[in-house]
Amino acid sequence: MLRYSDDVLGGPQAAEQARLAAMATVCDPTTIRILEERGVAAGWRCLEVGAGSGSIARWLADLVGADGHVVATDVDTGHLSDLPAAHLTVLRHDITRDPAPDAAPFDLIHARFVLEHLPEREEALDRLVTWLRPGGVIVIESIAGFPLDSSPHPPFAQAMRAVDEVLARSIGTDSTWARQFPAPLAGRHLVEVGTAVHLPPTGAANASALCWTLTLTRLRARIRELDLASDDVLDDALALLADPAFFDLAFATAIAWGRRRP
Ligand SMILES: C[S@@+](CC[C@H](N)C(=O)[O-])C[C@H]1O[C@@H](n2cnc3c(N)ncnc32)[C@H](O)[C@@H]1O
Repeated sequence: MLRYSDDVLGGPQAAEQARLAAMATVCDPTTIRILEERGVAAGWRCLEVGAGSGSIARWLADLVGADGHVVATDVDTGHLSDLPAAHLTVLRHDITRDPAPDAAPFDLIHARFVLEHLPEREEALDRLVTWLRPGGVIVIESIAGFPLDSSPHPPFAQAMRAVDEVLARSIGTDSTWARQFPAPLAGRHLVEVGTAVHLPPTGAANASALCWTLTLTRLRARIRELDLASDDVLDDALALLADPAFFDLAFATAIAWGRRRP
């Protein structure tokens, strides 16, 4: 089986940078609200797993200040090169096999759109929980595919299901995992466990539409190889995504959190 960064997604291309930037535009406000509600503050030691473009790591570094620290990890740190160095360490790190970063244990561990793409997600989550200090908080975010079931736009729904299926078959992504939230955290004996769902609108050529346009374009050859959708369907879906009058829901973001017992 391939991995996320085996040219399935990821990589240094400008299109990947634009995709990560659009993802951040869509998702950062919700992530920041959830992290603020968990009490993240000056002085905290934070781990941002699979940091992508580093937008959340940058926000955390500003917040925790000189008395705190942020470690931003990724298997591919290519999009993290311009992050400010103050209070922030960028680390090339594979969450499925590398040891705890030196700065462990952490007050906060956050991973957005990472664990669902890893077949070893349960083992990775086991490891993350052990890297929390007593009283530390973990927040995980994952795509969830259920809004596709009620889409009123067949070509869009079929193209998005093809994205889902191609990622499942090529790298082992599971977009149904998050439907169990917050069970993966409650089952690991965390306390103050909770969950939320963010359903970003995709349409009016907004950042979500751009993100899915870039994702679909990137995965198009693999989707065709596996015959998961026809060229006509993919063209129709891309035309809808470019249409300022289009509106639908793609994947939801499911969010779960919990605290290690003090
Ligand atoms: C969908 S992107 C999300 C980026 C960022 N967390 C965000 O939400 O904007 C997934 C990120 O996880 C990283 N990643 C994939 N497998 C990983 C692994 N085994 N360990 C650490 N990071 C990984 C990818 O390189 C990519 O940057």
